[in-house]
Amino acid sequence: METVWIRDVGPRDGLQNQRQILSSDQRLQLIRSLLKAGVSAIEVGAFVSPKAVPAMAGSDTVLAGLAGDVGEFSVLIANVKGYELALAAGATRVAIVVASTDTMNRKNIGMDTTQAFAFADTVLRRALADGVHASCYIATAWECPFEGPVPTSSVQRQADALLNSGAQEIVIADTIGAAAPAQVASLMRGLGQQLGSERLACHFHDTRGMGIANAYAALESGIRRFDASIAGLGGCPFAPGASGNIASEDLVLMLNQQGYDTGISLAGLAEASALARQLCDHPAVPKSLRWIQQQRDKGALS
Ligand code: COA
Ligand code: ZN
Repeated sequence: METVWIRDVGPRDGLQNQRQILSSDQRLQLIRSLLKAGVSAIEVGAFVSPKAVPAMAGSDTVLAGLAGDVGEFSVLIANVKGYELALAAGATRVAIVVASTDTMNRKNIGMDTTQAFAFADTVLRRALADGVHASCYIATAWECPFEGPVPTSSVQRQADALLNSGAQEIVIADTIGAAAPAQVASLMRGLGQQLGSERLACHFHDTRGMGIANAYAALESGIRRFDASIAGLGGCPFAPGASGNIASEDLVLMLNQQGYDTGISLAGLAEASALARQLCDHPAVPKSLRWIQQQRDKGALS
């Protein structure tokens, strides 16, 4: 059975956009429930300005709390200072964020695109020397909330530049959930041919209900690495119109039914999902969850 790698970004992308700010202990509880479900790659926090994203303050405490746990724990960083703080806190995996357009870069990280890519280049080179695994998000890769549709050619150029700087992986992100499956297939096929699909991942938001269709289009285009968020929590506070990520429950179920192995237990995800919704006081339920719960209650899921 072919494997698909899934990283749950709920403890970062999910929590950064909730009304409820969780304590480090609550964040650890959520991360451990994901580990228990078999999710081995998790974005556990962000080393960004606590004024910009209050919910991610204390990510150093979260990392310290995970010192005895086994997993691929990444943290988001948005400037060189964030990289240094992450390293000091013991991070071994960082996820750098840059966006495809000037306005989004300015709104998100206070830099224009040239400055953002210079920051990424600096950190990627340092990460290589430091033995830190560094992936890089290209946010708003299909559409920017400020500048509109993004030309494929600029994302291709940007992804190529980031790989040349030493990125281990490029995460192509539909930050506001505006892409449609044909656009996803077109960009991901092109990037896969140009750069090799094994170095690419996709990150979809479900604003228009097309998240799973987009994930399927990427899968059919050769992508085998995806972000998703427990309970579909998520969104960028600096991208107007951004809503939750594709739910991990929906993605894992789709992949299972398509015959892929993710190493993740649906019954375990149902537990983690209930915890996430309870901690965040979040009413939305992923589409697949009712069916998953019924199967679990019948004892049909492990
Ligand atoms: N961690 C903690 N504090 C930081 C920091 C970091 N990585 N980078 C900067 N700061 C602090 C500075 O020390 C300074 O503090 P002060 O006001 O007490 O002196 C303040 O933030 C402003 O610093 P400056 O360098 O001028 O940054 P900025 O105001 O241009 O903001 C970012 C730049 C990157 C820090 C900010 O835009 C940010 O955190 N963005 C978050 C992006 C994000 O997480 N988006 C969602 C996910 S995609
Ligand atoms: Zn996101």
